[in-house]
Amino acid sequence: MPIYNSTDMDKTALFQLTYGLYVVGTFDGGRPVGCIINTCFQVTSENPILAVSLNKNNFTLDAIRRCGKFSLSIIAEESDTSVIGSFGFRSSRDADKYADYGYDVMAGAPIVKGKFAGRLVLEALNFVDAETHVVVLGRLVDAEKGEGTPMTYDYYHRVVKGKAPKNAPTYRGEEEEKATSGKRKFRCDICGYEVESDGPLPADYVCPICKATVDHFVEVK
Ligand SMILES: Cc1cc2nc3c(=O)[nH]c(=O)nc-3n(C[C@H](O)[C@H](O)[C@H](O)COP(=O)(O)O)c2cc1C
Repeated sequence: MPIYNSTDMDKTALFQLTYGLYVVGTFDGGRPVGCIINTCFQVTSENPILAVSLNKNNFTLDAIRRCGKFSLSIIAEESDTSVIGSFGFRSSRDADKYADYGYDVMAGAPIVKGKFAGRLVLEALNFVDAETHVVVLGRLVDAEKGEGTPMTYDYYHRVVKGKAPKNAPTYRGEEEEKATSGKRKFRCDICGYEVESDGPLPADYVCPICKATVDHFVEVK
């Protein structure tokens, strides 16, 4: 298969694509599991079909294959942002991501509790191979409007100042690094959240994304 990689291709153009942020939920047997995605779009309007892109290493993909149903909770600017750290930087292989939030069951799929812009449940129709990822096509089987303004991926980067881990299709690597104002910069070694400060972070500082304590913050030189 040809790989197009012309030297004058400016991949930062990809940063101009727009996305939202979602919690995907499904059942592994009776256990609720899930992860964060930004890659979701509506494919058809009548009897709607949606698509999500999941990394082959993500446990959530294996669980959706077995369960056949999955939910999407549409993250809002008003949502508790710790859900992004809890669901986006740990695997359900070794973590109970719902422990701090609780969940309801909607049309056979777990829905994490909290404030969200909307909730959707889909039945998996087709799994399309995309090299490192699988695009899951799902038929909408239930939907409920929530509250708040849907959070865009851009808002997450600009306002929440969050990062994407390597499993996200939109992982930006070092290109994501930005020059700063000369203040000291500290990065959470769990979720990658960065904060600027004139001096050391306060001892009781807690990561707003994943709730890690201050000893998880490493100064970025
Ligand atoms: C902002 C953000 C966006 C993400 N987008 C995706 C995505 O679109 N697809 C994906 O497979 N993983 C994405 N991830 C990564 C998964 O949420 C992450 O790898 C998670 O730990 C997988 O958990 P699991 O093994 O329990 O499925 C994203 C994470 C974050 C924080």
